[in-house]
Amino acid sequence: MALLKAMSGLTSNDTTLTVYEGLIDIPIFNPNTADHAIPVAVADLMLKIRAADGVIISTPEYIYGVSGALKNMLDWLVSTGVLISKPVVSTSVSTQALGAVRSHNSLILILHAMNAAVVVDGSLNVSRVNTKFDEQFNLIDDLTKQAIAVSLATLEHAVNSVDKSIIELDT
Ligand SMILES: Cc1cc2nc3c(=O)[nH]c(=O)nc-3n(C[C@H](O)[C@H](O)[C@H](O)COP(=O)(O)O)c2cc1C
Repeated sequence: MALLKAMSGLTSNDTTLTVYEGLIDIPIFNPNTADHAIPVAVADLMLKIRAADGVIISTPEYIYGVSGALKNMLDWLVSTGVLISKPVVSTSVSTQALGAVRSHNSLILILHAMNAAVVVDGSLNVSRVNTKFDEQFNLIDDLTKQAIAVSLATLEHAVNSVDKSIIELDT
């Protein structure tokens, strides 16, 4: 969350980055329930993703993978198709020196399975994240700020290069 908030403060003038804070409201995905209605929190998220030109997904590395809450959210979204052909940047953080790469790889695999337009060059993995933010979760590391700028510019370029007619066919 701290990384996403830092990213939202470093966008260019042309771009608005809205940080989604509703993950905690997404119920556990269970395909065996009697009614197959989409929960309000998931429907709300779908609308937000549909309205966005691009998406940044961020995860801490948990047990060499993505967080369970994020995976649960993606389990809900896969059948909706909202991420199909959507430009998506993967970002990942870990307190360990070699962390964040394994969760990044896990997230990329999931996004490919969902047919998202993964913006590979925009990926951002922040290792030793506890040394890069202060106690109020402000980003204090200049190299990470530079990496964020590159990641955002790459996503903006990908969004501007998208063939909108493909997206319209999908939605
Ligand atoms: C349950 C759990 C599992 C973790 N597993 C890993 C791991 O496999 N590899 C790693 O590099 N860091 C791991 N970490 C460290 C987290 O990536 C790091 O603490 C991260 O900043 C946590 O973000 P959070 O405060 O948003 O949960 C783990 C942390 C937790 C709490």
